[in-house]
Amino acid sequence: MSPINISWNLIRSLLINRWIATPYPTASFDGKTIIVTGSNTGIGIEAARHFTRLGAHRVILAVRNLVKGEAARRNIETSTLRLNVVEVWHLDMASFVSVMEFVERVNGLERLDVCILNAACMAMKWNATEDGWEESLQVNLLSTVLLALHMLAKQTASARAHPGYTPRLTMTVSEGYEMTKFTQRGEPNVLQFLNRKEYMEDPANMWEYYLIEKLFLMYCGREIAKLVPAEGTGPPVMVNMVHPGFCHSELVRDSGIGYSVFAFLLAKSSEKGGSTLVDAVVKGVESHGEYLSFCEIAQYAWQIESEGGEKAQKKMWGEVVGVLEAKYPGMMQSITEQIAGNEKSAGNEKSTDNEKSGILWV
Ligand SMILES: NC(=O)c1ccc[n+]([C@@H]2O[C@H](COP(=O)([O-])OP(=O)(O)OC[C@H]3O[C@@H](n4cnc5c(N)ncnc54)[C@H](OP(=O)(O)O)[C@@H]3O)[C@@H](O)[C@H]2O)c1
Repeated sequence: MSPINISWNLIRSLLINRWIATPYPTASFDGKTIIVTGSNTGIGIEAARHFTRLGAHRVILAVRNLVKGEAARRNIETSTLRLNVVEVWHLDMASFVSVMEFVERVNGLERLDVCILNAACMAMKWNATEDGWEESLQVNLLSTVLLALHMLAKQTASARAHPGYTPRLTMTVSEGYEMTKFTQRGEPNVLQFLNRKEYMEDPANMWEYYLIEKLFLMYCGREIAKLVPAEGTGPPVMVNMVHPGFCHSELVRDSGIGYSVFAFLLAKSSEKGGSTLVDAVVKGVESHGEYLSFCEIAQYAWQIESEGGEKAQKKMWGEVVGVLEAKYPGMMQSITEQIAGNEKSAGNEKSTDNEKSGILWV
């Protein structure tokens, strides 16, 4: 059984979660183009609602189910009385092809000011994707990183074309990462080790699975921030991560009565969770590469901030990039050159599924 690490910090967080004030977002997003993934429900729809209310020019709901997405759009329009702002775009993060089709569409946008990578799922049973990965491993980690890298490239181009606003890339993570001891770190290939039905469906490992994905996403988020270092007046794109707090949402979909009571007592509203996402986006340069909890920069726990944590971060970043490079050879070079402003390199990337997806690298 994977050992659990319950820290005082986590207990404290759960106890204050519902009672600590969450600032109601008031910043203007006038003229901004904003993407929120996983925004047909939960925390994502509430963040999108705030952005719409706060004057955004375009709010793109990136969702895997267009019917649910349209319902979310109508819901936001009814509550904000703003029409022709919210758009629904298809994005299924359980498919690399779908992610790259979405990237191609995003590259056609005139600007991209804010992107919140919020979509995630909690696996209760084994489900393999068309790319051969356990679904949550692909959605919560691999596709989120693939998307983050491409959004970062688009946003650096957007920053060059529209000086005066530093675009924001925010990833939704979870403070629950502190509960994992990451005992699998000694495995030669951790992702392949985790990507096994017998491992994932073992009740001893199942619940830690989601938390370890969030830990790995935090490792990758820190590495992604390094691609746009804060020099001079700041980074060209601000990258940070946010823990929304324990919120009512649809994340735990097969919950029993025990979880329902736990949530009834301790969870806060998804609206407050959405407010924390908006707060992360308005944070200043000091939040670049950092992680926010309760709307403040939080200290990383030992799983990240320690010699072992740093080694683990390098290893897992290497593994994730390795998976993506195997799928899209030349991707990292292309991304770093796009970030540097060398547009010519954008066509150098090859995809092993270009023919299937019909993707044009632009
Ligand atoms: N709620 C909490 O207490 C809590 C705490 C810490 C962190 N978080 C994080 O907050 C974020 C939002 O979660 P939530 O609590 O709002 O849960 P939620 O209500 O279940 O929302 C998750 C969203 O992700 C979408 N999604 C799932 N699989 C997808 C896929 N393959 N492609 C595209 N979208 C997909 C869902 O779409 P469908 O509706 O179509 O499934 C849904 O819109 C997640 O990153 C979660 O890990 C939540």
